[in-house]
Amino acid sequence: MPNHPLRKGGPSARIAVIPGDGIGKEVTPVAVNVIKAATAKRHRPIEFVDFDWGADKFLREKITLPEGAVEMLRDEFDAILFGALGDPRVPSNQHAADILLGLRFKLDLYVNARPTELFNERFTPLKDRVCNDIRLMVFRENTEGIYVGVGGFFKKGTADEIATQEDINSRKGVERILRFAFDYARGGGISGNLHSRGAEPSGRHSGEPGTPGFHAAHSTSHKPLRLCMSDKSNAMTFAGDLWQRTFKTLRVEYPDVDSRHLFIDTLAMELVRDPRQFDVIVTNNLFGDIISDLASQLAGGLGLAPSGNIHPGQTSLFEPVHGSAPNIAEKGIANPFGSVLASGMMLDFLGWHAESELLKQSVKSALLDNITTPDLHGSKLTLEVSDWLVNHVCKYS
Ligand code: NAD
Ligand code: IPM
Ligand code: MN
Repeated sequence: MPNHPLRKGGPSARIAVIPGDGIGKEVTPVAVNVIKAATAKRHRPIEFVDFDWGADKFLREKITLPEGAVEMLRDEFDAILFGALGDPRVPSNQHAADILLGLRFKLDLYVNARPTELFNERFTPLKDRVCNDIRLMVFRENTEGIYVGVGGFFKKGTADEIATQEDINSRKGVERILRFAFDYARGGGISGNLHSRGAEPSGRHSGEPGTPGFHAAHSTSHKPLRLCMSDKSNAMTFAGDLWQRTFKTLRVEYPDVDSRHLFIDTLAMELVRDPRQFDVIVTNNLFGDIISDLASQLAGGLGLAPSGNIHPGQTSLFEPVHGSAPNIAEKGIANPFGSVLASGMMLDFLGWHAESELLKQSVKSALLDNITTPDLHGSKLTLEVSDWLVNHVCKYS
């Protein structure tokens, strides 16, 4: 693609920014400003390049994911900071399928890591739960399942119409997400495997292997985390059988990891009944989508939920879990914490752990001081939260 030269390499980072639609356009600039504040004082050279892919461009130019975009992102960027896609003027959601699912599939971002952590007891709807009770990671398979778009219509528009939607599960796909989850659990949440190219200090994504990740930031031991694989193998018997067999094979390889299986309906119930049971959950694309929204609400809701779409060693994409929220778009009240925490995951992925921790601490401090938008019962506007975060990060970096 023109005007975007190849990066030179070195301990700097080049980030593609895709704000997208609705509140994606409001929260993403906040995250960029907070990252800039966190990296400036520590002399981390970081470059942001904006892309206007989304509903407006689609409606104007009929372009969703431009030609050559995938190769450009893969070859010229370290990571992608993504907002959200979805617009009432595009009821087919075609642009979101092409851009978001397109990037997940074409960049082969097979791990969708969605952490949930209760930062403050007042945010959980569950009775008598304290912060340590809710700290879990959902690993969602991100490149196959029912999302692949295989299916079709027969006799469309007639009384005999049939619609099919295939659930595609490959042995390779199932094994790699399960193995990733087992490795993460074995390392006690040490996210060396969330980083990449750790052995190439001057290369892209140069991480410092063995440095703390999401769970380990809270514990000094490397005790393995408990892992729960979830499926619906009692009803979806073919795909379920593959997940079950692969799971059983891997369990033998990871005897040190306390692992178990729950059907997805039971998992939904148990998460609400007693979330203390869970450290690491691994499941397929659709179940992971649903269960991560449920998990997010246990800790304050979508406004606080980050995610990383990751292929270790390759350009990966970071975004809040929430969508474009047309019901609150352009009101200036969108909660930017999900995007800021997703940026924290991105900095971790880049190997910039101190800066990542700074972002997370700034969100925790804002919550403590009630610097929050209305979804968290605060009275602040997005931009007021943004100013507070930037000031806080500048003060403590
Ligand atoms: P949504 O996440 O956009 O909103 C769900 C509810 O949560 C709404 O009431 C919204 O106001 C609230 N909410 C979400 N994020 C918030 C934030 N940061 N601050 C305050 N409140 C917030 O889900 P939806 O309404 O089902 O979907 C809207 C559109 O977004 C649809 O087009 C959908 O397909 C799309 N979507 C996109 C993504 C993505 O791009 N990753 C994710 C989910 C939904
Ligand atoms: C998400 C979203 C997407 C998904 C939609 C917009 C296709 O809900 O990122 O969680 O289902 O993956
Ligand atoms: Mn979702």
